[in-house]
Formats: sequence, C-alpha cells, structure tokens
Amino acid sequence: MPAKRKSIHGEWSSRLAFILAATGSAVGLGNIWRFPYVAGENGGGAFVLVYLLCVASVGIPVMMAEVMLGRRGRQSPVNTMYTLAEDERSSTHWQYLGVMGMVAGFLILSFYSVVAGWTMAYVFRVASGVFDGATAEQVSGAFTVFVSDPERLLGWHTIFMVMTIIVVSRGVKSGLEQAVRFLMPTLFVLLVAMVGYAMSTGHFSEALAYLFRPDFSRLTGDSILAALGQAFFSLSLGMGAIMIYGSYLSHTASIPRTAVIIAAMDTSVALLAGLAIFPIVFAHGLEPELGSGMVFKVLPIAFGQMPGGTLFGTLFFLLLVFAAWTSAISLLEPMVTWLVENRGMNRVMAAAWSGLAAWSLGVVSLLSLNVWSGYTLFGKSFIELVEFIATNVMLPLGGLLMAVFAAWVMSRESSQDELHLSGSTYRTWRVLARYVAPVAVAVILLTAIGIL
Ligand code: TRP
Repeated sequence: MPAKRKSIHGEWSSRLAFILAATGSAVGLGNIWRFPYVAGENGGGAFVLVYLLCVASVGIPVMMAEVMLGRRGRQSPVNTMYTLAEDERSSTHWQYLGVMGMVAGFLILSFYSVVAGWTMAYVFRVASGVFDGATAEQVSGAFTVFVSDPERLLGWHTIFMVMTIIVVSRGVKSGLEQAVRFLMPTLFVLLVAMVGYAMSTGHFSEALAYLFRPDFSRLTGDSILAALGQAFFSLSLGMGAIMIYGSYLSHTASIPRTAVIIAAMDTSVALLAGLAIFPIVFAHGLEPELGSGMVFKVLPIAFGQMPGGTLFGTLFFLLLVFAAWTSAISLLEPMVTWLVENRGMNRVMAAAWSGLAAWSLGVVSLLSLNVWSGYTLFGKSFIELVEFIATNVMLPLGGLLMAVFAAWVMSRESSQDELHLSGSTYRTWRVLARYVAPVAVAVILLTAIGIL
C-alpha cells in the first residue's frame, strides 16, 4: 500500500473545518434559488420525493466515495484519479474523469456567477425599499425588466467573479472557515423565520401538500432526471469539488459521519427554502412554474409586506450572496489546483485565468437572457442548455464513475483503510456504491435520453 500522501496545497485545521467548508460548498444558490424553481417546474411532491431518495441512496454513498478518493490522492482531481488508478494497477485514463469534472465546474461556475450577480443586485434593490407594498405583478415585472438589461447583469457578474477569484487566489482555507461558521447559522435562522412568516400569512397547508403529497402522474423520465441532477448539484457532487476538499482532510476524520452531516444540512436548507417560498406563491395566486426567476419574483413580495421587511430582506439576500460565494470558490478550486500542479502556475495566476475563462462563458449566458434570447436549441436558451448539460448529464455521469472507481476498481483493502469502516456499515456503503448508485444513475440517464 502506498505511504500516506500529503497535499501540497495544505490541510484543514480540523474535521469541523472540513465540514464547514464542504457545507459552504453545498449550501448555496442550489438550495434557495434552484431547488424551489425546479420543484415548481416538475410538479412538486413526486419530484421532492425522488430528490430525497436520490440524496439518500446515491448522494451520500457518492459523497463518501468522492471524499475518500480525494483524501487518498491528495492532488487535483485529475492527478488524484491518475495516481489512484496507478496504485490500483488500473488504466490511467481514469484521469479523464477529473478532466470532465473540471469542465463541469467551469460550465457551472459560468452561469452560477450570473445568478449570484442577480442576488447581489437584489441586496441593494430590497434595501432601497422599492418593493415596499409592491404587488406580485410589480415584483415579477421588476425582475423581468432587470434581466433584460445586459449591462447591469454584466456589472454584477463581473463583481462576483472577481470576489471568487480573490478568495481562491489566496487559498481556500484561510477565511472560509470563519465565514461559514457564522454566516451559515444566520442564514439558517433567517430561513426558519421566513418559514414562520409564510406559515402565519401564506397558504402554508397548500404548500405542504404541494411539496410533500406526491402526484405520481407528474413523474416523467425528465422530472426524475431533474431530481437526480438537483441532488448532485445541491450536494456539490460529481465534479471534484468535494474531492479536492477531501484532499485537505486529515487522515483521522471519519468520512461516513461527515458525509451524512453535510447531506442532512444541505437537504434541510433546501426544504426550508421550499417551505418559505411556496406558501407565498399560493397566497398570491401565482403558478408554481415561475422558472429560474422564482426566488426573485416571490420573496420580495413578502419583504415588501412584513414589518421590518426591508432590513430582513436585505440581510437575507446578503447572506445568500455569501452562501453563493462559498460555493463558487469550490467550483473554481479543482481547476486552479490542476493548473498549479501541471502547468506550474502560481495560485494567483491560475485563479485569475480560470476565473476569466468562466467569466467569458458567463457573458454568453447573460446575453442569452436578453439580446440573444431568440437563439434556442431544443427549446432552451444558452444559459439553460449549459445548466442542463452540466447538472443533469455531467454531474450524474461523474458521480457514477466515481462510485464505480471507488467500489469496483479500488481494492477492498484500500477503500476499507481509507473509510475506516468495517462490518455492516462498510458492506452497506459498498452495496450502495457498487450497485445502487451506478444502476440508478445509469437507468435514469438512459431513460431520459429515450434508450430505456
Ligand atoms: N452546491 C452548490 C449549491 O447548491 C453549487 C456547487 C458548488 C456545486 N460546488 C459544486 C454544484 C460542485 C455542483 C458541483 O449552490
């Protein structure tokens, strides 16, 4: 067995630091912006049920696999896969799994930064009090006007990308821990307060029924794929973000416990976001199919009506910006570590160049919302297409291959040694990672493209 490796990029100060960083990566726009709108587009309850099943039976075992691979390889995802494949005397082509992950991260970061820019703009819009007493139509209309202004979107997209580059170029470990430790709990408390508000003023029971009473007639191959993709996106799985964070994790920490904690926190934030938003949707007679502008069309209505709503809403969007920031950092990190290791760049240059590349693609996405909105492929605009391919195809495929590598290619000794597991817990993980996760992902992907 190879001697324990060390990462040239450093190590977390503790297991808690890793949990905080990984939670910072997982909790972001995926939970608060994406989960409610994708749930609304896919009919609610049945989608939510499939999403929860995916988190438990695919997400957690894949997260364990991904953290384990990262900690054993201790390099950028590309080099980790290369080294681990060599260790196991398997084909070094496994490095292309790392390459696909970098590409997926790059694609996701490009549109993620655009949406994070919307969030930044909304900090100031809510603070200015423009939504005070606004009707649902006025709030929706304001969003439509906002996204049709490319210059404004460009400004915010640029600011957000620069913020991301700055943190990554300093090394993700300094500062991230402190930020997540205080900001995440605050965001959680604000969300709970929002749910309380929605409970007392909105159509809460209608929202509960919508989200948790499955209507299986709404379940299609596409909505199942959307639920799977959402599980991967929300947990930051399948592209190497969690792998690179795992590579900074100390050898003594327990991976299974850590994975369960992270998944539980991430999933509760998504469900709380749903419970905060849908009661307001129904109370104002809106349709659940509000599309990717949903949070921005719904929450400001409540902020404009509740006492202290301006302050509360400003703080809410501000914390959402932080949550998006700690996620975006993890999207850039795999690329940056690879450039440092293989291209001999220093961290600052690596972060600047890869951030600039993602920014450029983001500009195309941003223009596809307005000036180029006439150009579509398969009925999707450019930004929707990038989101779809990266989230619903590349992440699940990446996760499938990670599970296959961890549970089929790696020897039992290697995985047992790295997971510090034995007995029935180890066997459960191995069955999930060997059979359940790969088969579920393969069946869902093949069904969606019409082969099964
Ligand atoms: N999980 C984050 C969110 O929900 C986004 C994210 C960060 C991500 N890193 C990732 C998604 C890696 C997929 C893969 O907002």
